[in-house]
Amino acid sequence: MIYRFEELTSTNDEAREARYTHGDVIVAERQTAGRGQRGHTWISPEGENLTFTLIVEPTFLAARDQFLISEAAALALCDCFREFGITTHIKWTNDIYHEDRKLVGILIEHFYSGMQLRRTLIGIGININQTAFDPSLPNPVSMRQILGHALAREAVLDIFTHCFEARYATLQRGDHATLAADYTAKLYRLHREQRFRLPDGEEFTATIEGVEADGVLLLRHADGELRGYRFKEVEFVVKSLLLEK
Ligand code: BTN
Repeated sequence: MIYRFEELTSTNDEAREARYTHGDVIVAERQTAGRGQRGHTWISPEGENLTFTLIVEPTFLAARDQFLISEAAALALCDCFREFGITTHIKWTNDIYHEDRKLVGILIEHFYSGMQLRRTLIGIGININQTAFDPSLPNPVSMRQILGHALAREAVLDIFTHCFEARYATLQRGDHATLAADYTAKLYRLHREQRFRLPDGEEFTATIEGVEADGVLLLRHADGELRGYRFKEVEFVVKSLLLEK
């Protein structure tokens, strides 16, 4: 069921309420404290985009397999955009990019029961009709900017939920291999050199070789060594496309 709100602090906050169950979607026109990854905020002008949280209860999954939910959500978004004729890639761990610009941000929160997953909140912000962005944002883009026309936000949500159902069914069948292979195939800058930054600020160039089942990013360093990085252990160095012009 879809629950719509004019204003929330964050759809992920509302989705924590126990009254919402598997498959429910919380949509907000306005978030007063929208949250992004790595402690960032998510700001979305009212009426232009989609900000929502999908609640799932993957109780059949072990906590160590939680990255499969990220894979399913990111792939469902790519599937959804394909329906609109937009090619996208997944910037590890789960930003959705069109070419070198960010179209979607995802914030996933897991809750556990012992060693099993109990509930997962998949918070998604899709840039749909926005045409002016804060210049401090790293290369954002909207569906409208890509396609050249405005879109009905409801249609995007409807198609996304159908695409997610299909990917979630793959997960329920236990077909982890398909999700992992499709996710890797969709990785932004796969097998290409990319600048990365460590938490201490040091930068290096490496080639993305893939992602392990638990979400660890595999990078081939210039010295030939293959090293794995967890989320927060490394970040992409994103160059502003505006500054290059
Ligand atoms: C990121 O790119 O850093 C993740 C952004 C996630 C934004 C969405 S909008 C709906 C949901 N509610 C939030 O507060 N955040 C997510």
